[in-house]
Amino acid sequence: MDNNREHWGSKIGFILAAAGSAIGLGNIWRFPYLVGENGGAAFIILYLLCVVLVGLPLVIAEILIGRTAQKNPVGSFRELSNHNPFWVGVGVLGVLTGLMIHSYYNVVAGWSLGYVVESARGSFQHIGDPEKAGILFDQLSASWTWSLFFSACFMMFTIGIIYFGVIQGIEKASKIMLPILFLLIILLVIRGVTLEGARAGICYLTKPDFSAINGKTALLAFGQVFFSLSLGMGALLTYGSYMTKNEKIVSSAVSVVVLNTSVSLLAGFMIFPPLLALGMKPAQGPSLIFNILPVMFNSIPGGYFFRIIFFLLLSMAALTSTISLLEVITAFVVDEFRLSRKKASVILGGIVFLLGVPSALSAGRLENFTILKLTFFQLVDFISANIFLPLGGIFIALFVGWFWGMKKAIPNLLEGSVALPGFIVTIWSILIRFVAPVLILLIFLNSLGII
Ligand code: PHE
Repeated sequence: MDNNREHWGSKIGFILAAAGSAIGLGNIWRFPYLVGENGGAAFIILYLLCVVLVGLPLVIAEILIGRTAQKNPVGSFRELSNHNPFWVGVGVLGVLTGLMIHSYYNVVAGWSLGYVVESARGSFQHIGDPEKAGILFDQLSASWTWSLFFSACFMMFTIGIIYFGVIQGIEKASKIMLPILFLLIILLVIRGVTLEGARAGICYLTKPDFSAINGKTALLAFGQVFFSLSLGMGALLTYGSYMTKNEKIVSSAVSVVVLNTSVSLLAGFMIFPPLLALGMKPAQGPSLIFNILPVMFNSIPGGYFFRIIFFLLLSMAALTSTISLLEVITAFVVDEFRLSRKKASVILGGIVFLLGVPSALSAGRLENFTILKLTFFQLVDFISANIFLPLGGIFIALFVGWFWGMKKAIPNLLEGSVALPGFIVTIWSILIRFVAPVLILLIFLNSLGII
């Protein structure tokens, strides 16, 4: 094992950091609007199925690659494939995908930070309907000074954590922020479900209507699994590379997946009961959080404070994810080019921020600049999240299941967890070799309109 490589300071360190990476805007912003637009409980069931059949086995595989090789995504694939250029390319694709996701993710994270400040200033106090809140959102996000200022602040927070390394930076930040995040979300869920008329929302989330499920919803559920679990681009691989060989991969992976899934479900219970209690429609699309929620809090006792808490929660969740995004490229540059972590994090953070500028401007000045009918922001989001992540997922499954092979994968998986029951290993190998690649391929071809 590379003795110079930093490792997590405690067993819970990996779990909290990886759960922090997974839990983010994906759970609080993306998941609720997808549920709202695609049939509520039925979509949730479909999502859970994808998590178990494809998500969890791939999370295990990604962590396994990183822990075995003890390197960044490119270095790991290079080592385990004996310098095969194709697999090195897969590692490079992961790092590039991370760069792309981080560039626009930082913009949305900046908006949430901006909304903490706007909430504290009372900017939403007198807004009575979502349409007016929508106009305010458009104005704020189209103002490049507002949007770039907050995304620059957000990037500085991210760099500030990565700068201090694995234990002092990532692990410490996750240990502080994740418990606070859970506390805040539980507070908001209690607020939501105790409102008068909350029952409609609870029913919406628990009574499935399967007629809402079709090929398109399956695709969306699937994409959400990748995005939400930070899967397919080497984030879990990189965090896995800071694990020692006496930690248990499978149980850690299960904890991360369970924590991430609970936050998504809790986010549903935080948002839909008050939304339906106030007679608003669940299908609002991506602007759900920024248009509806500021207004919703106006009709809730204590709304001023709950609104600040909500956007604080959103910003914190985003921060534990952006640190994992920046860590992937930082680890790559530190390992491969021998640059110091401190220098690499500042330079790379700056580059990611600049790459995000066109995405930030997509809401304003570049609104009419479209490629394939998508704004720059939507295009980067679509290519990275809907194409590159699932593609990365297929490659990880094929690599572990077939190229590197089960003969090498299983002994490495068992290191640190000798007591793992044999049937779990068997189920995992079937899922990783057959189920995951075939399902991803089918959904992928379907999304491209080929089948
Ligand atoms: N999982 C994060 C979220 O749900 C997003 C993310 C994707 C983070 C890929 C890292 C890598 O918000």
